[in-house]
Amino acid sequence: MTADGLRKKYLEFFVSKGHAVIPGASLIPEHDPSVLFTTAGMHPLVPFLLGEKHPAGKRITNIQKCVRTDDIDEVGDFIHHTFFEMMGSWSLGDYFKKEIIEWSYEFMTSSQWLGLEPQNLGVSVFEGDSDAPVDQEAYEAWRALGIPEKRIAKLPKKANWWGPAGITGPCGPDTEMFYWTGDDSAVPVEFDPEDVRWVEIGNDVFMQYNKTAQGSYELLEQKNVDVGWGLDRMLAVTNGYYDDYKTEQFAPIIEEIERLSGKVYQSTQQEDDYAIRVIADHIRAAAFLLAEKLEPSNTEQGYILRRLIRRAVRYGRQIGIKDVFLGTLADVVAKKYGQVYPELRDSFDFIQERIAREEEKFGKTLGKGLIEANKIKEQNLAAGLESGHVTGAQASTLYQSYGFPKEMIKEEFSDFDEEEFEKELKKHQELSRAGSGQKFKGGLADHSEQTTKYHTATHLLQAALRQILGKHVRQMGSNITAERMRFDFSHPGDITYDQIKAVEALVNEKIKKDLPVQKQEMSNKEADQSGVLSVPRVVYGALVSVYSVTDGDIVFSKEKCGGPHVSRTRELGEFKIVKLESIGQGIKRIKAVLV
Ligand code: ALA
Repeated sequence: MTADGLRKKYLEFFVSKGHAVIPGASLIPEHDPSVLFTTAGMHPLVPFLLGEKHPAGKRITNIQKCVRTDDIDEVGDFIHHTFFEMMGSWSLGDYFKKEIIEWSYEFMTSSQWLGLEPQNLGVSVFEGDSDAPVDQEAYEAWRALGIPEKRIAKLPKKANWWGPAGITGPCGPDTEMFYWTGDDSAVPVEFDPEDVRWVEIGNDVFMQYNKTAQGSYELLEQKNVDVGWGLDRMLAVTNGYYDDYKTEQFAPIIEEIERLSGKVYQSTQQEDDYAIRVIADHIRAAAFLLAEKLEPSNTEQGYILRRLIRRAVRYGRQIGIKDVFLGTLADVVAKKYGQVYPELRDSFDFIQERIAREEEKFGKTLGKGLIEANKIKEQNLAAGLESGHVTGAQASTLYQSYGFPKEMIKEEFSDFDEEEFEKELKKHQELSRAGSGQKFKGGLADHSEQTTKYHTATHLLQAALRQILGKHVRQMGSNITAERMRFDFSHPGDITYDQIKAVEALVNEKIKKDLPVQKQEMSNKEADQSGVLSVPRVVYGALVSVYSVTDGDIVFSKEKCGGPHVSRTRELGEFKIVKLESIGQGIKRIKAVLV
């Protein structure tokens, strides 16, 4: 099966079931500022899922370019991708669960279509909670098709509920289809959703709810079906691969990376293979984003694009690529996909020019870091130490001042104590925070308008996190530049996309209300007694400044801080969380921008 063959088969199948083929939309949503990218085929169709009439009718299908950045840290495994093509189909108030489950089964297993092995299939359905009941109808439909009980998992909302794509909108329980990609002679009797060898290949969402801004689920008048199949994964399993990167979708890109690096891709979990996958993924995504004339920048979509390019450069260095290389790879992407996505050819010059510029700029920073790394090695030798030794403090300088990624520190220094490095990093952030407080007081620091705004934004963010995630959340560090803020905080468990969106929405709500930011001087003791937040491990003087944001009668945020702050929240503009990551030891990091 080829990628083209699969695209055609998919559309042909749904056309045979009465669907009209509609064109895909742009990767950058035109009418929805609540999400950065088109993350699923349903996304451009939200108005129609909510009841507006679609000109093509009630059954539609297409192949939609998608970019998902919440999976970015999972990229590097065999089955996650920043950019991917989603084969999608929709019932807009037409057929429902039974029909789509039968068709999904037919499409997957019939020899006329994909001919997958029924005995390699597992499925999951929604187990029910206070918002919606267990999906017995989906369960029965799978049973009627012969899927054994042990191959049907009933799972909670976290796993079997899809949407909304933004903060509010259509969503509902789903049923997901998995295929066994492990040893064919040892397919387990039971479907285990935790076992990564069961790969999710498709999802039928029963979009019959609308999530409101208050977080409740209203039943929609129109019951919809939203189907999504990832093309890369489907192509892999139909060809017997457990690794999407073995398919022809990636083959020419990987061949080029092999040529440039002298490494051979072996489809393993080893570091080099991991790096090759990250590069292949990121260059494909970057090329598609650039094809839509997106500019690399420090905010919003442009920032993600910049990160993709930088990460690709970094991993390139890691596998030994010394020269600029991304332009060559982007060319391979354009050749591979240009027939189906002509924008890659039409924007060829733009893609090449921007990639070259970004790669050169970042390459210089990394180059300086390498010189610094060599200095450290020389110093070590002069002091009679092993040259591969690096202290936490040295590593943290490489990381913070030279943009040197952790992977590269490890690469350069065999004796790298990661724990010490993390500790050092946190200490550094505390110091810089306390230090900036000091400097602000003395009037020495950069009082630029933008950093002042970010300062206030960190207070709103901390308050919002505590409201949404719980009072255990405490600031563990922060770092502000004129372009973005970084905020580290304690939180042991996972954080869902919905929670992050709720935090973002809450901050924006307080901004829009244009609340006053008030300053009071009080003794440190009095502040502690009245429950004012402080930053753990920071030592405060006897007299402290306390900044608070009050909404009506409710104190939303109250923190000890050296300032400065804006006087009213509306000055901040719009607050956007661009990244959430775990930095270990129960500490999460948010990067956010004001736009
Ligand atoms: N919208 C559904 C998904 O992305 C189909 O999984």
